[in-house]
Amino acid sequence: MPIKGLIFDAYGTLYDVHSVQAKTEELCPGKGDLITQVWRLKQLEYTWLQTSLQDYRDFTYLTQASLEFALRAAGIEPSETITKPLLEKYLNLDPFPEAKEALGALQRRGGLKLAILSNGSTAMLTALVKNSGLDAFLDATISVDGARKFKPHPDCYALVEKTLGLKNDEVIFVSSNSFDVAGAKHFGFKVAWIKRGGAANAPSAPIGPAQMYRLLRGNAEMLGYRQDYTVAALTDLIGLL
Ligand code: LAC
Repeated sequence: MPIKGLIFDAYGTLYDVHSVQAKTEELCPGKGDLITQVWRLKQLEYTWLQTSLQDYRDFTYLTQASLEFALRAAGIEPSETITKPLLEKYLNLDPFPEAKEALGALQRRGGLKLAILSNGSTAMLTALVKNSGLDAFLDATISVDGARKFKPHPDCYALVEKTLGLKNDEVIFVSSNSFDVAGAKHFGFKVAWIKRGGAANAPSAPIGPAQMYRLLRGNAEMLGYRQDYTVAALTDLIGLL
């Protein structure tokens, strides 16, 4: 089947979640790295927890709760002075440097639907794509709000066909998140894994929070749901088509 759509994960794939770090460091001097990494780890952990509990709370709620967790874990009492600007930054995350070029080239190629399928809430994603200008390239921005579950639950990936009418074998799903690669592959999509930042090598010295994060999340999962393609950047996708 010819590929008719490229579906992108948002956080970590099109947008750099660690672009909150400068602001976190400014607000919590000396603890920016720790808080940023624990925040992201806990945010995803909460998505899996709520889906297992069958008690959906949207990503806006979980992003705030996980930020409060991370601040407390770092010994900082969460206050609005800290949480408000950080949550605001989450609506203004930096797209990865090559995102616009890659989406523009894919759009110009024609015949392809381009869309986001993300754990983000509808409100968060609407703000994010508008603030970053990526909305100009996208045919749809699909939130898992429509399934009231989080990825990797199959109901989330099923939103692609419901929204865009694309069958599994007409889709390449693109994600840097290895759990999302596993989920999309298990669902039946062709999957491209963006291996951001290259290999997460085994450490040879005591490691910091960012490296711990990369070891956990920068490596492929070991459960057998192998991606079809591995790319280093979004611009490499053009060569796959
Ligand atoms: C998303 C998370 C997985 O955008 O990063 O869905």
